[in-house]
Amino acid sequence: MSQFDFIKDIAKYGLENDQEKLMFVLNQLIDYSKQSKKVNFAIQLQSILKESLRNNQTSHLTKVGSDPYFDKIDDREMNDLILEKLTSDYSLNDLIVNDQVHKELIHFIQEHKAIEILKQHDLPVSNKILMHGPSGCGKTLASYVIAGELNKLMIVVNLGAIVSSKLGETSKNLSKIFKKAALENSIIFLDEFDSLGKVRDYSQDHGEMKRVVNTILQLFDYLPQSSIVIAATNQSDMLDEALVRRFDVNVQFTLPNIDQINSLINLTLSKGQFKSPSKNVLDKIGKECIGLSYYSIQKTLITAIKRTLFKNLELKKVGSITVDSSIWMELIRSEKNALKK
Ligand SMILES: Nc1ncnc2c1ncn2[C@@H]1O[C@H](COP(=O)(O)OP(=O)(O)O)[C@@H](O)[C@H]1O
Ligand SMILES: [Mg+2]
Repeated sequence: MSQFDFIKDIAKYGLENDQEKLMFVLNQLIDYSKQSKKVNFAIQLQSILKESLRNNQTSHLTKVGSDPYFDKIDDREMNDLILEKLTSDYSLNDLIVNDQVHKELIHFIQEHKAIEILKQHDLPVSNKILMHGPSGCGKTLASYVIAGELNKLMIVVNLGAIVSSKLGETSKNLSKIFKKAALENSIIFLDEFDSLGKVRDYSQDHGEMKRVVNTILQLFDYLPQSSIVIAATNQSDMLDEALVRRFDVNVQFTLPNIDQINSLINLTLSKGQFKSPSKNVLDKIGKECIGLSYYSIQKTLITAIKRTLFKNLELKKVGSITVDSSIWMELIRSEKNALKK
């Protein structure tokens, strides 16, 4: 078929008002244009198609919903929005979480590894995940794990910065980031997702905030199946109900219990040549750590290792180094005291 044949068919079905056949031919033309390297034309046509589908609210949306995203984007405009862009080597083994969180993450990753199978069966893919829970409990780390496991690039968006600096431009900026991510097939990580709620509180401009939330809702609704959005917040209660409901998966991170504390200590020590104190001592240390985040516990351990190292150097001790438990315990206590203040 040549371009002219497509045009003839489009004219025919358009005039006959045969929506279904018209869509079919248009989709054929998009494929044909892509194959014949007329990519810009294909993208434009796709946008027109999607726009019209969106307006008609037809059920085709989930299948072809990717297209509102495919637009030309100027990279330079977004430099100040994107905190960083990264690839990740992290895997699930690097993250210690409770069974439930672990299962949720495994299922999420699995869906994207097997996305083709889901598509074949016409099943929707979960692609929006909300992570909430206390600071230092692995939300950011979990997003790196997802990126690492799926081998995808991740765009880290500092929502806090965007929302506070240029409220008026937030909607536009967010749309750009989503488009860019869809084009590059990368993950969008929206850190400090609660900023969206905060602005509603602090700003007099309620209308503007509503627009931002609506933009996000829309971007979520038309998110291509293969795109992934991860949002993280320490304060999920700050979030708009409607926004929370839009996520396919909602993961609650928690402070570590005693088993998780032990796993974290083992994991951290396994990366170096330093030995853990005896089991008895470790039990006491573990108990003392209850109430602290993974991050804080790891920080006390690493500081304790460094101080032990220097102490041993001073004492001219040689051979393998066991982490000094009294130094470590002291650090844990002061960390807890700092929290109380
Ligand atoms: N669940 C966890 N398992 C292993 N390490 C963790 C975990 N949570 C936090 N950490 C350690 O603390 C660091 C900071 O955690 P992060 O993921 O930024 O926490 P959050 O985003 O929840 O505030 C991580 O890079 C990691 O070294
Ligand atoms: Mg974080």
